Order: sequence, then structure tokens, then C-alpha cells
Amino acid sequence: MNNRITNLSEYTQAYDKSVENPEQFWEEIAETFQWQKRWDNVLDWNFKDPDVKWFVNGKLNITENLLDRHLEKRGDQIAILWEPNDPKEAHQEITYRELHEKVCQFSNALLAQGIGKGDRVIIYMPMVPEATVAMLACARIGAVHSVVFAGFSATALADRATDCQAKMILTADGNYRGSKSIPVKSVVDKALEKCDCVEGVIVFQRTNTEVNMKEGRDVWWHESIEGISKEYAAEVMDSEDLLFILYTSGSTGKPKGVVHTCGGYMIYTYYSFLNVFQYDEGDVYWCTADIGWITGHSYIVYGPLLAGATTLMFEGVPTFPDAGRFWEVCDKHQVNQFYTAPTAIRALEACGLEFVEPYKLDSLKVIGSVGEPINEEAWHWYHEHVGKRNCPLVDTWWQTETGGIMISALAGIIPVKPAHASLPLPGIQPIIVDRNGNEITGKNVQGNLCIKFPWPSILRTTYGDHERCRLTYFTTYENLYATGDGAKRDHDGYIRILGRVDDVMNISGHRMGTAEVENAIDEHLQVIESAVVGYPHDIKGQGIYAFVICENASDNIKEEIRSKVSEIIGSIAKPDKIQVVPGLPKTRSGKIMRRILRKIAAGESDQLGDTSTLLNPEVVEAIVLGAEV
Ligand code: WT7
Repeated sequence: MNNRITNLSEYTQAYDKSVENPEQFWEEIAETFQWQKRWDNVLDWNFKDPDVKWFVNGKLNITENLLDRHLEKRGDQIAILWEPNDPKEAHQEITYRELHEKVCQFSNALLAQGIGKGDRVIIYMPMVPEATVAMLACARIGAVHSVVFAGFSATALADRATDCQAKMILTADGNYRGSKSIPVKSVVDKALEKCDCVEGVIVFQRTNTEVNMKEGRDVWWHESIEGISKEYAAEVMDSEDLLFILYTSGSTGKPKGVVHTCGGYMIYTYYSFLNVFQYDEGDVYWCTADIGWITGHSYIVYGPLLAGATTLMFEGVPTFPDAGRFWEVCDKHQVNQFYTAPTAIRALEACGLEFVEPYKLDSLKVIGSVGEPINEEAWHWYHEHVGKRNCPLVDTWWQTETGGIMISALAGIIPVKPAHASLPLPGIQPIIVDRNGNEITGKNVQGNLCIKFPWPSILRTTYGDHERCRLTYFTTYENLYATGDGAKRDHDGYIRILGRVDDVMNISGHRMGTAEVENAIDEHLQVIESAVVGYPHDIKGQGIYAFVICENASDNIKEEIRSKVSEIIGSIAKPDKIQVVPGLPKTRSGKIMRRILRKIAAGESDQLGDTSTLLNPEVVEAIVLGAEV
């Protein structure tokens, strides 16, 4: 583990080197890995087109580096420790050797089903080890995976499959979530009525739910691997060949497919995993995310396996059978590093100390937070009752587009401060700019967070629409990657993330565009127009508040709107509050004044400011009177 920084002066040295000589810095880390052909040069880039290439013309396969490379030394070590939804069911331990066999075998199965290099494959699966096998088998044969969170609706699934022209969907019969079981395959069937690019479906049997198997299209997972070889020589990939597409919401339009490539993503997820969590040989590491999000990709699957770690994968939910489940699993498997989201912490805190106190939690060395700003109250509860004041709490800031953790303390090395992401990782050059893109230097300042130099796992494009990538991230400020977040640099130079500066909400750590929710609401026949904003929510961080103008609204219009949104996006996008309004506050040019709606939604109607320049100031009063608080 010689790429691990072990003290503060090493961090400073590594950081300085990564800025003064980034190419040499990353090249030395890349040398840890097996390359089938060495790169010609380390980095080619410009943020104008944008065009970023790392380890140019290098050849590799990421799965050789996270499986084959480990076999000699750690073939019998547990790679995936799987904990099922129901604690009464046995957990599974899958060694590196077994995982290697499973991945090779499923690689052969995919090939037999007609999937090859460059084909896109959607993974719509529960949190079972086979989901990881599916991702890695795609990577091994050079197919491009796109994992879709299994809580998204059939429409959302169809949109994503169509956008990337997926040839296959890997799924399961059902998905256990706490006391419920969700019929995942029937969602796939419904999605496939709306998209004709998908030729085949492989179905993993998990819940033994009865499903329709369409002749000539659908095959069972266990049948697909019957009699299939467990050996497969990994496909040779270029550093810049696509590894995966992951859809994420923005401030406009439909979700976009963020593209990550093989070489740079491999280096960065490995390096950031090792250093942020200070993973030691033999540790058990647990990230509670779902593989449907980038956190699951980078810090359940790729980063930990590249580092030869034991990664725990959990199928269930934090509150089943009760709100002590996380802590029970930590004790049961002697977890050393635990990584979760603030929304989970707040929800568990609200259930009371009696659910955490029975557990020892004495194996924990590091605890982490990700996905949204962690408020000080939740930070202290987590630090005290889970970390027992004994574990560094790393607040890790990053994004789907960044591929890996960008700003975070390195556990035990960089001193932490509540609610501060703290300092950039080596190789990351954040700056704070004003609205014109001028850098704001010094301490105690705030503005828009940008990154001024490429790092290995920066997104390369948005699938099928490079112009959209350019416009979204690289044109707001010249020659900078714009994160969409506001940030503050305090008197110690520590960075505190203030939240999005665009129309993107963060609901329980899930990213959701206001426009996306509005479009779904507008599909309801009685809705004429809608405006959606986020508002502070005790557990979710942000809740969704929808203002809607309706014609002949029926009595249960709110329920109907909620189910419409569920049908089009998924239940995570259902508005928490819906207010039927006579009109929406608009500027003279017809633009909705969201600033005003945000204030009303936040219960701050006394701070609306000047509304006299509006086209329809009278409407504001009516909205305030009817506001849901
Ligand atoms: C947005 C990215 C990448 C992890 C999962 C979310 C917010 C993420 C933090 C943090 C404050 C955070 C930002 C960012 N965010 N981590 N530690 N502190 N805010 O990925 O869905 O791409 O969302 O999540 O606003 O832009 P994502």
C-alpha cells in the first residue's frame, strides 16, 4: 500500500508535487497497475472542447487489475462480504478467486448472448453480489455498463435504455427492500414496451417471484451460466475506451449520461479510496450506498477492489428489521471503515439512541459522509454515538461527474471540522470564483466552486451529446470545470460546501432536477403549469415543494400528481408538498421567480424582498396565504 499517505507532511508534499508536476505524480501511481501496453504520454487536455485524455494510448483491462492482479497474494481473501436484507438469511463471503471465476463465467455468458465490446448493457438489479459480477463482466469484455437505480420507474428506465441504445438489460425477478419485495422484472417488461433497442434480458432469481419470461428475449441468469467456462482472458481496452455511463440529473432537460473511461477512473478511484479511508490490509470496509449511484460504483466496487480490500455489500435498508441494523451489521462483520449519507444519519438519529446504544461499534476506525452537506447536529451525533469520539469523520465532497472524492480530509491525517469537507485531495485544484469567473483568493470568502486542472476521473463527455457536456460544465467560466456548487473557504483554508447554485435539488442525497419533476407533474392532464423548488427538510436535507396551477382540479389531485411523478421518474421524486395556486410569480419577461417560491417553501414569507417589479405581484399574496407549512 505504498501509495498511501501516512502523515500530514506527506500530504503536503504529495499535494505540492501533484500541482507542480501532475503528470509525474499520476504516472507514478499508475505504475502500481498492470498495463498491457504503457501509455505514450500521461495527459492531453483542454477545457475548451473539452477534450481530456489520461494515459494516452495505454492498454489495460480494469478487471485484470482488480481481480487477476490480486490472485496470487489474496486469492483466498474475501473480496465481497454480502449481507442480505433479512438478517435471518445467511450472509455470503466471496473470495477474490471466486469473484474472478464468477466474473469470467458471466463474461462468457454475455458473449454467448451476443454482447461484445462497445455494446451498452443496462444493469437494473438489487444489491446482490451478482450486480457487481454484472458490472465487472461488462468491463471484462469491454461492454459499457449503465447501472440504473432499481427504484427508478419503467419510464425512467426506458428513457435511459433508449438514450444509450442499450442492447441488453440485466435484472432480477424481484428486489427485497425491508419488509417489501419489489417486482423488478415487471418494471423491465413495462419499460421494454417503450424501447426497441433492447434485444435480450438476463434475469437473476432472487425473490422467486413469478415473472413473465418472453421467449427469445429473456433468459434466467442461472441458465445463462450453465456449463459455461470460468476462464476468460480480459479484452484489451484503451485507457480512453468507455467503462461506463451513469445517468444523472441536471438543471435542464432529461438526465444526462455521464461517461467515465477505463484508465483514469481506475487510477483515481483506487488512490482516493486508499487515502481518504486509510484502508489497511485486512480491514473490512462498508459503504452503504446503492450501486445505482456513483458512490456505489467508485466506493463499493471499483476503488475498494482495485485496492484489494474486503468490501461489504448490503442488500437491505437502514430501518429493517429495526433502526439498529447498520450497527448490528458493523458489529457482526467487525467493520473498520463505514461510509454513509447524512440523510441516513438523521433518520436513524430520529429513531432514538436505544437503537445504537446496544452495539459496541468498537471495530470502527473511520466513519464517512457523502452526498449532501452534513449539518453540524448530525455530524456530532454521528461522531459521538457511532464513532464514539474515536474515529475521524471524513466529509467527502464529490459528484457523479468527478468520478471520485475531490475534497475531503484523509482520515486521521488531516484534522476535521464539523460540516467542512476540508482540503482537496492530491491532484485536485479547486478555486472559488465570482459570477464573472474571477478567482476569489484569500480566506473567509465564498463563491462558486470550480476546478481548474483535470484529474484522472473527470467526466469525458455526456453520452451521445458532447455539446451538452461542454455547455453544462465548461462554458459557465472560461477554462474551468464548473461544479454547480457554492463553497466557502474559511480562515484555515478549509472548504465548506454551501449547496447547489443551480436548479438541482438534493433529496436524501439523491440528485433531482426541478425541471425534471415539473415535466413529470405537467403530464397530469389537469395541470396547466407547475414550479418546483427544494426546501429545508429535517431528514431528507431537502424536500420537494411543488406549486401547481390546475384546471378543474379533482379532490385527490395531490395524490394523482404524486403517482404521476412516481410513474414517470420514481417514488424518490414525489413532491413532499403540493400547493394548488392561482398563478406563479413571473417577471415581465415571463420567467418564474423561483427566488420567491423558495422563500415561501422555506417558511420565510416575511423575507420576500421587493415583489413590485413582478408581472403579477397579487399572486404572491395568494400563494403565501395558502402555503403548506
Ligand atoms: C452533488 C453531487 C458523489 C457522491 C454522491 C452524490 C452534493 C455531494 C457532498 C458533501 C456537501 C455534497 C453536491 C454535489 N454533495 N457530497 N460531502 N457535502 N454536498 O453525487 O448525485 O452526483 O451529486 O451532491 O451538491 O454537487 P451526485
